[in-house]
Amino acid sequence: MADKIIVAFDMYGTLLSTDSISKQLEIYLGSDAAPSIATLWRRYQLEYTWRLNSMEQYEDFAAVTRNSLRHALNESGQQLKDTEIESLIKAYDSLHTFPDVGPALNRIANNSSIRAVIFSNGTKDMISNSVLRSADLSKHASIFSDLVTVDEIRKYKPSPITYQHVAKKVGKELSQMGEIWLVSSNPFDIVGARTAGMNAIWVDRAARGWQDAACPGIEPTAIVHSLEQIVTKINSKH
Ligand code: LAC
Repeated sequence: MADKIIVAFDMYGTLLSTDSISKQLEIYLGSDAAPSIATLWRRYQLEYTWRLNSMEQYEDFAAVTRNSLRHALNESGQQLKDTEIESLIKAYDSLHTFPDVGPALNRIANNSSIRAVIFSNGTKDMISNSVLRSADLSKHASIFSDLVTVDEIRKYKPSPITYQHVAKKVGKELSQMGEIWLVSSNPFDIVGARTAGMNAIWVDRAARGWQDAACPGIEPTAIVHSLEQIVTKINSKH
């Protein structure tokens, strides 16, 4: 029997909408301030991971998520009580999925040639809470054969070590990186995976086109506008 195609799904921003936290922020800050603070929070959350990598330091993603929220609030001149911050952090475990996620995961559930895993910066607790207990994702939890977190190696994406880690977890050698497909909406994650030798599908829901030029010449293996197109794309390139 042929080996299964390994598809590693990024979580935040790809399956789960980090913008959906905005609704929870609105409760405390109102609908004018909430969307921009949600965006700033996400930006600092990622910036912190890259800075920690550069400094060879590590704080887990739960701490990064909490600390970047405080930064975004302070910079926006907003204050929240500790209990409100904790309830926002808790809400991070039940972010909503994008509308194309359910149908796409149903297609994968019916495709026996694909082995799907989650591959995320989130801690094991964060990923487990989102995949196993959140209203939107838990009904699809059984399609994921593993929940791989970078927390096990204390490095964040896009360090090549993180992509090598997921390869190891799915039983692939470094020479077999091209047998793994990353699916991500985060351009930095796509460039990281391609640089590490993986295939990578960029989910460009806003149909903006590829802009990232961190490593000129490095592009996604394929681009889709909806997650529902990934099985067709993989089959056409495989
Ligand atoms: C993740 C980040 C990239 O889920 O959002 O790994």
